[in-house]
Amino acid sequence: MLQIYDLRTEYLSNPMGLDELRPRFSWKLKSDKIGVMQSDYQIVAYSSGKVIWNSGIINSSESQYIRYEGAELVSRQQVSWKVSLTTTDESGMKESAHSEIAHFEMGLLHPNEWTAKWIEPEADVVYDERKPAPYLRRTFEVKPGLQQARIYQTAHGIYEFWINEMNGTEDKFKPGLTSYYTRLQYQIYDITALLREGMNSWAVMLGDGWWRGVTGGTVKNNFGYKLHYLGQIELTYENGEREVIGSDESFKCSTGGLVASDMLMGDIYDARQEAPEWKSHWYDDSSWKQVHCTTDHTDTRLIASNSVPVREKEHFTARPFRDSAGQLVIDFGQNIAGYVKMKLKNCKFGQEIRLTHGEDLKDGCFSLDNIRDTPLLISAFQEVVYTCSGSVEEEYCPLFSIFGFRYVLVEGYEEEIHEGDFVAVAIYSDMEETGSFTCSNPLINKLVQNSLWSQKGNFMDVPVDCPTRERNAWTGDAQIYVRTATDFMNVYSFFEKWLKDLTLEQYASGKVGITFPSTSSVHNPQELERNIKDNPLWTLAGPSGNGSIGEDSAGWGDAAVWIPYMIYLCYGDKQILINQYETARKWVDYMLACAKDPNPLYEQDPQYFHYEDGELDANYIFDTRMHYGEWLEPIPKKETGESVAEAIMRMRTHGNPRVATAYMYRSAENVAHMAQILKKKEDYRKYKKIAERICKVYDKYLIGDDGVIEPGHQAAYVRVLAMNICSEDKRSKVVKQLIQEIENNDYRLNTGFLSTPFLLHVLVDCGYPEVAFRILEQTENPGWLHAVLLGSTTILEKWDGMDRHHGSYNHYSYGAVCDFLFSRVAGITPLFESPGYREFELRPVPGGTLTYAEAIYESLYGTIRSRWEQTESGLNYECSVPVNTRARVYLPNGQCISVGSGDYNFYS
Ligand code: BGC
Repeated sequence: MLQIYDLRTEYLSNPMGLDELRPRFSWKLKSDKIGVMQSDYQIVAYSSGKVIWNSGIINSSESQYIRYEGAELVSRQQVSWKVSLTTTDESGMKESAHSEIAHFEMGLLHPNEWTAKWIEPEADVVYDERKPAPYLRRTFEVKPGLQQARIYQTAHGIYEFWINEMNGTEDKFKPGLTSYYTRLQYQIYDITALLREGMNSWAVMLGDGWWRGVTGGTVKNNFGYKLHYLGQIELTYENGEREVIGSDESFKCSTGGLVASDMLMGDIYDARQEAPEWKSHWYDDSSWKQVHCTTDHTDTRLIASNSVPVREKEHFTARPFRDSAGQLVIDFGQNIAGYVKMKLKNCKFGQEIRLTHGEDLKDGCFSLDNIRDTPLLISAFQEVVYTCSGSVEEEYCPLFSIFGFRYVLVEGYEEEIHEGDFVAVAIYSDMEETGSFTCSNPLINKLVQNSLWSQKGNFMDVPVDCPTRERNAWTGDAQIYVRTATDFMNVYSFFEKWLKDLTLEQYASGKVGITFPSTSSVHNPQELERNIKDNPLWTLAGPSGNGSIGEDSAGWGDAAVWIPYMIYLCYGDKQILINQYETARKWVDYMLACAKDPNPLYEQDPQYFHYEDGELDANYIFDTRMHYGEWLEPIPKKETGESVAEAIMRMRTHGNPRVATAYMYRSAENVAHMAQILKKKEDYRKYKKIAERICKVYDKYLIGDDGVIEPGHQAAYVRVLAMNICSEDKRSKVVKQLIQEIENNDYRLNTGFLSTPFLLHVLVDCGYPEVAFRILEQTENPGWLHAVLLGSTTILEKWDGMDRHHGSYNHYSYGAVCDFLFSRVAGITPLFESPGYREFELRPVPGGTLTYAEAIYESLYGTIRSRWEQTESGLNYECSVPVNTRARVYLPNGQCISVGSGDYNFYS
């Protein structure tokens, strides 16, 4: 039977608070027939009992990103929609179905609909000390006949709110991180059920968050020194009356138990200072101060948050033990980003309990060494210090801090710990899980789980490098991992949001910072001024007030191109290309401009003397500026005794032509392809020509006639082969060099951040699948399974991290190998000709010790499954293709067949 399910609006289920005037609709189809394709659809949308859009019957198989084309949507409008459609199966049989009803609600579309005022609870600017969390409250009257109530709100900092002492949402770390000076998200919640006739209370707490908390391990007061809140409650009565109650001078403020709260440093909470009833309507707040209203930053655009919210997810029970130093430590069994909810018993008034969160045990002893190996300029790190009120039982859970940890050191508490007393909670953006991979090698299965956990640990509203030391939204890490991110979870709206901030933070020159919204340097000009004096690294920063201040780097800034390109490939929505095209193009132009800048160090090299079409070859080699290159490449490093600042200066003078030029090439190629897709013919020709020229000079000057590419490590060859930036002539020689390098390294990988994701793909493409499997399955360092064997539960920043107890233990970058498992080993591959898995390849690569492998991927159209198994009689292959899609299946005998929806079984 045909079934329509999973209706989405703007990729979300029944979202509340959209500001998109032509929201995108989508649905999935299920059927027990074979080769089913949708032949037509009809969408009807209605609001307040009236039809506002009837698409009519559209003869189309499109079931994704269909734009609403009805009457103009207005603020607060509640819309319901449904779809009816017809399908045709392989035998020509038609079937029809009607969907359930989906809903969405619009946000506040015009700035003047915000009648509430920004309120400022703090009177004085405090620069460096930790500050108590502001507590805010007011009461208000609800008249009889309330029909519906909404709250619209946002903050500078992060906020929690309560109506009549009840928390109005499960969403966390609101309003999320955006380029705050240009756009700030607000949230909308339905609070009808929380209100009662008569007096009601509205309580709010603010945390430092990304606004002024520590980010990047070093920066604070990034966007400002004071926290603010803006909230508006709108009551609609049965008689049609609407009443708006906004934040204004009627709010009172004070402080309470939360003496300090920082996302990275943690909380100081004194339960003795908390008035438990402060959220109730009857609480006597006569000693509280009145807030003042502010008009600072009111020119920031308020936008509805259209990405997935951050939520509490998995819960982990405690396994307490004494470490080798006799300290009480809790092992939660999984390295996560989150916090601990604790229940304390029989504590004395004033007793201080300290929880320190860490990822490692060193010689059996709780240790923070791995994540404190770069000096952090902060007084506390990943700590909760709780002072007891002395009640028989007290409970605590951080509101505004989040830590990376598996272990928690508990100090000051000696009671026996029972199940449920300490529970660790994972916190991340609530993205739908879409992919799983299993095979006969349990270590690979664990690697897959570890990678998924690193994604969970680092995708908290923006993608960050690690949840501990920095929590910086590094561009490089995200572009390296994006393809794998799409395998594990539906990340469309997550990345659509983040990339819009990339656009806002891009420099006028086209330069793209290394993190954004920049958390490795400050947006707040006053704070930049204060810091430059003490920290010479800050002097490397660019102009203030222009988004990201950090330096750029090839392979990092290319996130501007590669991420939208990959998101388009995996979800097929042209909107991401429309949104990001100009940003991507400007980044390529910026690289080309940098390439034109001569580098005096290389001016005697032949490329500076040879012209073609009136242009110097050197103009197509990017040999200037600083680049991180193959970051953390596991080659033995010379001890140079250089300071970080000196190393950066050295990298700046030398550039990194082989890496930077390759990325300039790839991005120019990608931009040319994007231009082609968007039918920008002139741009297509222009960037195609540029890419061809870069390829030509790369091949001529940077690849030896014998195929040797300096500095001769695996990465240099992988990069060239993955990007296809060499002539046909040299290609086989480059492959030979790569294989030689791998043999010399005893079949262990030796690549850094940038090339690792491509290593195994390249080997399969060049006809060496067995070498790929050998590298994948070996357990020595460096290799993916090495840390797995040592018991890691996430992906490490450094290949030998656990051997040497250094570097973050939760860095997703190297987990990018999982895409190889999904798209090559199990063989589920999206295609640019028909992106978003509309038509895809199933082309598994069996090999290594594996006797079976299976991947299941929940595409926008439904479930794709691919499973092969070596049996005594040969290879057995099974697959499932969702309704409304087609697959090109490469059978074990090499034959390729095209199939429509259904479940299939093939034997060789
Ligand atoms: C981060 C990385 C990042 C790198 C830049 C590190 O400190 O943790 O993941 O990409 O700096 O090279």
